Amino acid sequence: MTIGIIGSGALGTNVARALALKGISATIANRRGPASLAPLVAELGSSIRAGTVAEAAAADIVLVAVRWTDLGSALSTLPAWNGRIVIDGTNPVEFLDPNSSDAKDPSNPLAAYGIKAIDLGGRSSSEVFSTFVPDARVVKAFNHLDVSVLAQPEASGGQRVQFYAGDDAQAKQAVRHLLEAIGYFPVDLGSLTLGGRLSELPFGALSATNFIKI
Ligand SMILES: NC(=O)c1ccc[n+]([C@@H]2O[C@H](COP(=O)([O-])OP(=O)(O)OC[C@H]3O[C@@H](n4cnc5c(N)ncnc54)[C@H](OP(=O)(O)O)[C@@H]3O)[C@@H](O)[C@H]2O)c1
Repeated sequence: MTIGIIGSGALGTNVARALALKGISATIANRRGPASLAPLVAELGSSIRAGTVAEAAAADIVLVAVRWTDLGSALSTLPAWNGRIVIDGTNPVEFLDPNSSDAKDPSNPLAAYGIKAIDLGGRSSSEVFSTFVPDARVVKAFNHLDVSVLAQPEASGGQRVQFYAGDDAQAKQAVRHLLEAIGYFPVDLGSLTLGGRLSELPFGALSATNFIKI
């Protein structure tokens, strides 16, 4: 199985780091192009290569690690997904300009964190995400933990729990194998609508919960 990562920010680089630690190959891409990733691939070694977004998107399993508000620009011009597996690592939040009125909005419970929740009209974020990747098999994963712990899958004498959710059993199995290969303890939360909602930030009951399986 080939792996692609779209987005080389906090999430994308830390997943790449976790893969590199196990020698798992992946192609990582961003908006600025492969040359901008030279320092990262030099740091991570030969298993991680820099590519274009189209190259990363051609993999068997593609992690989308861009901000929610960039989903359209990152995904709208890509070729058909044809049933390939897309991991939704996103959360439906908007990052606020600290000088904007939104950042000081007293009705926003997340203003202190510099973010606000995006209104999805009652749908789970992966349901909405799926509309950006038609015909892909979407599995939600990598979205619920602080990125700083992703490259430490073994911790406190146990394995870090990674939640995942999806509607296609084979796709979930493939993502489960990937999570196991990195060293996490994968926990299946069920469907995108139910399980995806549990783990999504900012309000999912399991979001930001950092369990260790001992
Ligand atoms: N940060 C966390 O702790 C965390 C944890 C779990 C999940 N998440 C979720 O993960 C997602 C990414 O968050 P982040 O913190 O990693 O964001 P980030 O640090 O801002 O990185 C975003 C990345 O997306 C790339 N990008 C933006 N538009 C693009 C486009 N049109 N084509 C290709 N690449 C594009 C950017 O490319 P350039 O570098 O070239 O600008 C950048 O590498 C968000 O949905 C977030 O909610 C974040």
